[in-house]
Amino acid sequence: EIHHEVDSLLNKMSVTDKIGQMSQCMSTNLSLGSDIDSDSPEKLVSEGRAGSVLSAVNSNRVFELQKIAVEQSPHGIPLLFNFDVIHGFQTIFPVPLAWSCSWDMTAIREASVIAAKEASATGITYNHGPMVDITRDPRWGRVVEGAGEDPYLGSLIAKAQVEGFQGDSLFDPETIIACLKHFVAYGAAEAGRDYNTVDISEGTLRNVYLPPFQAGIDAGAGSVMNSFNTYQGVPVAGNQYILNELLRKELGFNGILISDYGSIDEIVAHGNAKDSKEAAKKALDATMDIEMVTRSYDHLSDLIEQGIVNIEQINEAVRRILTFKYKIGIMDDPYRYIRPEKEKKYHFHPAHLEASRKLAQKSIVMLKNNGVLPLKSTELNLAVIGPFGDSKDMLGPWQWSRYANQTVTLREGILAKDFPETNLLIEEGCKVEHVIEGGVERAVAAALQSDIVILALGESSEMSGEAASRMDIHLPKVQQELAEAIVRVGKPVILVLTNGRPLVLDWFESHVDAILETWFLGSQAGFSIADVLFGDYNPSGKLTMSFPAHSGQVPIYYNHFKTGRPVTESNKGEKFFSRYIDGSNDPLYPFGFGLSYTTFEISEIRLSQTRMMESGTIFASVTVTNTGMVAGEETVQMYIQDIYASVVRPVKELKGFKKVKLAAGEAKEISFKITAKDLAFWNLNKKNEVEPGDFKVYIGSNSYHVKEALFELV
Ligand code: IFM
Repeated sequence: EIHHEVDSLLNKMSVTDKIGQMSQCMSTNLSLGSDIDSDSPEKLVSEGRAGSVLSAVNSNRVFELQKIAVEQSPHGIPLLFNFDVIHGFQTIFPVPLAWSCSWDMTAIREASVIAAKEASATGITYNHGPMVDITRDPRWGRVVEGAGEDPYLGSLIAKAQVEGFQGDSLFDPETIIACLKHFVAYGAAEAGRDYNTVDISEGTLRNVYLPPFQAGIDAGAGSVMNSFNTYQGVPVAGNQYILNELLRKELGFNGILISDYGSIDEIVAHGNAKDSKEAAKKALDATMDIEMVTRSYDHLSDLIEQGIVNIEQINEAVRRILTFKYKIGIMDDPYRYIRPEKEKKYHFHPAHLEASRKLAQKSIVMLKNNGVLPLKSTELNLAVIGPFGDSKDMLGPWQWSRYANQTVTLREGILAKDFPETNLLIEEGCKVEHVIEGGVERAVAAALQSDIVILALGESSEMSGEAASRMDIHLPKVQQELAEAIVRVGKPVILVLTNGRPLVLDWFESHVDAILETWFLGSQAGFSIADVLFGDYNPSGKLTMSFPAHSGQVPIYYNHFKTGRPVTESNKGEKFFSRYIDGSNDPLYPFGFGLSYTTFEISEIRLSQTRMMESGTIFASVTVTNTGMVAGEETVQMYIQDIYASVVRPVKELKGFKKVKLAAGEAKEISFKITAKDLAFWNLNKKNEVEPGDFKVYIGSNSYHVKEALFELV
């Protein structure tokens, strides 16, 4: 039925009308700095020269522009409203890198459901998320937006988010179209510098960067956004192999392909097109449906007239766009998403805040604890020192919540515990990147009066996200100096970090008593941190990106390839092996690492058999015991290594995990099912296949501390 309606509308549209559907404008006036001037959104919409609008974030504005489209544009075709709903809309959840550390798909799906509910009530119909880029280089600011370095975990999280945003049916006005971004390999930008060159092998592309996209497509994601980078020298925005052959034909994506902001125009800056007209042709040939904000696609009418592109290419793109407009119900009811009464009800709803607080608790990763945590007494002189002690900058990048000023700070979180015996001293000490006159002295004085110091340090939200790569991934120098002065006082120090990327923490590891990695936890940040500090929540988060011991190690990730000269226990310290002469290869905190207030022991692995047919199954089991004094949750992780194959394989790859809650002293058996699917990889024939041979299975509490067993695929 939709198909028929789309075609009959398409037949009535002029070339200009069609190009209009393929063009997106901003909701506010914009000077583009490109060779084509941009008119106001009102003008573009009324003339039918825009089919979607970016960043209209209040329902009045959405209504205003929709009315113009419906009443004034040539065919009255309603607009799509696009926005970056990355970790919540009004209720802000932990940043995606943080929530990935929960390894909790139900909670991540729930956060996406809530984000969709809140955004759609304002009239947003189309999300620019989830961001599913694999990230291995913490210098890259955008690591904060993704699920970290692992393709298996990243795929599960991609699926959970698509399901959360889109629900069971896009016709439900409480859902939004999900857009997988950025296709593809954007996370491999050289030297971690945003928008930089990507030059990777096809094997790495397929085995590492593609799986989360495939998972998102299989979950039904309606849209995909291209990445800014090149692949094999061709900017992805105009790369026929990547977009048409790989994404559409091979991965089976048939939704809307949207260009990232300005990336069609940028084909010119890349030096792959003479001008924006040639760039437009390249993008169209690569099946790009919507141009975000820039106006290279205005050239399409000339290109048609000159016979350089074919009207059928344009029809295809418009067909895809209109199909979604029908699917989400706006063709019949253009205003169905704009529901101010629902906005009032949903935005910052207490239940949403509670979900945010719960996910924030699960996102916290305890990196060190010598026993100082949880705080054992409330009869305390507690000094909270540092720029994040009473800061509302706990939401992170990619959020524009109207409720930002209601973010719960660490100080507020501690005060809400309402311990009258706790005497709280607060000193900022320094700004995130600047000295405060006399700040360190006042902070030292507070530390001297305290029993325990909480050092609240980190990065501001502008220090990660798009265009926020850092070459030095230590804490800023002023904060390091503050920390050194406080540590010299000699009181127990708990470092609480607010930040958007793995940092180099070697000095802190050896000088403070406990470290909590809290990332940017969102609207309820302070409550969740206090819950962990006082033991109301036993930390369970596990890192999804490796933390380097030294910045010279990056990019650093656990699932690296084997080499011909690996460092082993027996050759440690010798030259002529794949090592640094001035330090270890090992990260400070590996992928999958995170401590609890209790301890867990994982037994040796028991295999149901040691030989397996391609159609067969092996069960790998362990007993997990809570060997500590309190209840806790462990995430038991299973990794596999293909010992020899037609191409070199990684030292290990995550293939399963189970979260298990255990009372003190309790033990449980955990079993992982291994099938051929877990052993397959993309080989030189561009096929995802298994090869017979020997495999190692590892099970442990993180990617380094594992037990191992051997089996053979026959
Ligand atoms: O969606 C984003 C994208 O991830 C980076 N460039 C800007 C877009 C629109 O905000």
